Amino acid sequence: NPILPPELNKCGTATNWNNGESLDGINCCPPLTTDIIDYKLPPVFRMKIRPSAHRASAEYMYKYNLATDRMKRLPADDPRNFMQQANIHCAYCNGAYDQPGQGTLDIQIHKCWLFFPFHRWYLYFYERILGKLIGDPTFALPFWNWDNPKGMTIPPMFVEDPRSALYDRKRNQKNLRAVVDLGLTDATDTLQVVSNNLTIMHNEMIRGISDPLDFMGARYSEGSDPNPGEGSVERGSHTSIHAWVGDPEQPSGEDLGNFYSAGRDPLFYCHHANVDRMWYLWQRLPNNKLPDKRITDPDYLNASFLFYDENAQLVKVYVRDTFDNRRMGFDYERIDLPWMDYRP
Ligand code: C2O
Repeated sequence: NPILPPELNKCGTATNWNNGESLDGINCCPPLTTDIIDYKLPPVFRMKIRPSAHRASAEYMYKYNLATDRMKRLPADDPRNFMQQANIHCAYCNGAYDQPGQGTLDIQIHKCWLFFPFHRWYLYFYERILGKLIGDPTFALPFWNWDNPKGMTIPPMFVEDPRSALYDRKRNQKNLRAVVDLGLTDATDTLQVVSNNLTIMHNEMIRGISDPLDFMGARYSEGSDPNPGEGSVERGSHTSIHAWVGDPEQPSGEDLGNFYSAGRDPLFYCHHANVDRMWYLWQRLPNNKLPDKRITDPDYLNASFLFYDENAQLVKVYVRDTFDNRRMGFDYERIDLPWMDYRP
């Protein structure tokens, strides 16, 4: 059977992955309500196009900053408030929820085939909330284009101005303007790092994949133990970025370097937009070995989560609705894929 959505009234203490201790001072449980509706994807009248963060216009950055600022200023108990949004990640990833009817078995949406669908829904509502706060239903999140040499630094809008709503103090200060190191090699030769990054992307997207689950992550259903296995991108580039941005001076790599705190950095959503883009790109890669990249197992398709939508309505969403991003109303700006045929 599929993973069931959590029972919010049983949300408990989260655990710090880094040291296994409970995160006592931190309550990452969402506001309670029993009013849950099944979410229906609304008809798409206008496609939102997520832009590359490095190429975004000044006007776009202004809007994005304004929307994020408004999200931070919402009342603390509003489920759309920025900290509440960050806590969604903590609750689903740090053991605050147990699988209904399975004792104390945690719900864990990482390191399994729920990784891409869960984060796609998470960003979907985050994006709609931002759009609502600035009265722009076409607002689309930017993606951090770390798979292209032109995007291999933290996008400047996140680091340039400490007063910006996109700024976060808890980042590795050495990497604010450095070239991303997807292999965490600590190499100092920039060209070598870029070349290594492209090799990594080629392997994660193409060379290392012979089954859809190699990309998506391992089977995970009702009663499964957490962490059956990560897909290639989750294990590699995705986790490297988390670790590379998180601040080694903080006790547990906060913010981006730890599950419970990752969503507190606005850069998280920009990073994950590119992770989501990798799924979108992978689905469209010509690949004779894998003509169909759908997972048809009902335990996958019928798995479900709970989110608060842009109207603060609690909704139940299903994995089956995530397969086609265009059906969900968003697409990605077209950018070259230099890793596609990359052979070092
Ligand atoms: Cu939910 Cu990048 O992790």
